[in-house]
Amino acid sequence: MSSPHLNAPAGAFADTVLLPGDPRRAQHVAETLLTDARRVTDVRNMLGYTGTWRGRRVSVMGGGIGIPSTLIYAHELVRDHGVKRIVRIGTCGGLQPDLELGDLVLALGAGTDSNVNRIRFGGYDFPATASWPLLEPVARAARAASRPVRVGNVFSSDLFYHPDAALHGRLRELGFLAIEMEAAGLYGLAAELGFEALSVLTVTDHVGRPGAMTAAERATGVDAMTRLVLESLFTG
Ligand code: HPA
Repeated sequence: MSSPHLNAPAGAFADTVLLPGDPRRAQHVAETLLTDARRVTDVRNMLGYTGTWRGRRVSVMGGGIGIPSTLIYAHELVRDHGVKRIVRIGTCGGLQPDLELGDLVLALGAGTDSNVNRIRFGGYDFPATASWPLLEPVARAARAASRPVRVGNVFSSDLFYHPDAALHGRLRELGFLAIEMEAAGLYGLAAELGFEALSVLTVTDHVGRPGAMTAAERATGVDAMTRLVLESLFTG
């Protein structure tokens, strides 16, 4: 069924959707990791594909940057296409000094400066948390593959260029692992609509100190993360 931001017919999406921010990343995942992938939506060039991975049906689509964009696509995927699981595959800025570029961060919980969850929850604070049945196998697979992985809180900011100069230091003191722009919103929507959600992130830069992955290193890191997610979701 077509919806304002998805021009896909009924049944076009699999129960599980991987959601990178960048639609070209979705195309890359579809073309390099999935079998028989077909483009199923392209409104505003926000490309989405459905194919199989080791015989299991899976979709991958771009969600854009930030909570508002991500939630438009997540909402329509779940409401209009019956999607059951959304795994964001994204990047983040590392906050803790012992995080290295390329490390994986699994967002167990997400704080935010966004108001979206308070809007949903009548002004109260919402505990934005990942789906444990999604998170646990990814953490296990990462450890089994000896991939550096951390599980904990991230901060989902509406502002990439944040005016509060003290924010990053405070987040670091409070043990936040990384900063990104989507997890808290996705987890709130998951609670409201009743789907499972997880954000799996690759550390691509350090907040507050020099050093960032090159475009090629990002691509390799995100590819490895995507493969790990596919393996853990569909094994067993
Ligand atoms: N801030 C917010 N989002 C991000 C960052 C960052 O430093 N790096 C990757 N995504």
